[in-house]
Amino acid sequence: MSELERPIDAGWLALREPADTRARDAAAGALLPPLLAGWPPGFAPRVLDLGSGTGANLRWLAPRLPRPAAQHWIRLDHDPHLLERGGQLDPGLSTTAVRADVIDLPRRLPALGGEGIDLVTAAALLDLLDRRELTAVVDAVVAARVPALFSLTVEGRVELDPADGADAALGLAFDAHQQRDGRLGPRAAAAAAQLFRRRGWAVIEARTPWRLDATVEPDLVTAWLEGWAGAAVEHDPGLGPEATAWLDRRRTRITTGAGLGVEVGHVDLLARPPITIG
Ligand SMILES: C[S@@+](CC[C@H](N)C(=O)[O-])C[C@H]1O[C@@H](n2cnc3c(N)ncnc32)[C@H](O)[C@@H]1O
Repeated sequence: MSELERPIDAGWLALREPADTRARDAAAGALLPPLLAGWPPGFAPRVLDLGSGTGANLRWLAPRLPRPAAQHWIRLDHDPHLLERGGQLDPGLSTTAVRADVIDLPRRLPALGGEGIDLVTAAALLDLLDRRELTAVVDAVVAARVPALFSLTVEGRVELDPADGADAALGLAFDAHQQRDGRLGPRAAAAAAQLFRRRGWAVIEARTPWRLDATVEPDLVTAWLEGWAGAAVEHDPGLGPEATAWLDRRRTRITTGAGLGVEVGHVDLLARPPITIG
């Protein structure tokens, strides 16, 4: 993690976890059966979770894979503070926390037990990576020849209900901010799918949008609005006054109970190695 990089906030990760769970539950039927079909019944996998943060991916996925108590998870993240805060993991699981950057994955995977890993996974990570980092991840997965489940990659689609005249300008600036310093942002899922397919891997994609209702989750919607507008202004400071007025209008709808719906597009991706005969 570079000195200049802003760490992800653990409070934000906790706030978004219920929305992540709902989004992933809706697509689980498309992704988990093909994943499980590659394993013998009751097989307890060893899982490598990239960008594990405080462990939300583990909390969602472990109970949906066979025999959680017999699984082993390696939680990898470049932020040691988030790794330490993963205190509320399923007590039945065995876990190892590894501080590392995904760029080093091809070199480090064998030492992490590459031979013994059965699944590589990540949630809300791919859009943060640049092309070199994404390629390192795909190269490491391909070398290990194990399936990969990459969830909740943003696809750059945001719909607010009701719409507001400033939504589009802020959305464009937000997407540009997501692609700062070469990050893939909303291009990440398509880039990952292409890298896998070029290597002959089968890829299944499923949409996992957040559908947020400000009357039900006012804190999450408020935090999301503030983060969205803040990132847009960071990219284009000239948008400051427009963003402030926009945020006031949006917050007023929440505090007065007038209602605000937010849909944020994500995509989940399951990549599986080609079947070799003989
Ligand atoms: C948006 S958070 C998601 C955390 C967790 N997977 C979840 O679903 O709550 C992204 C995580 O990826 C980690 N991360 C970002 N870039 C990374 C990199 N290049 N190498 C390792 N970890 C990285 C961050 O520290 C953070 O914990």
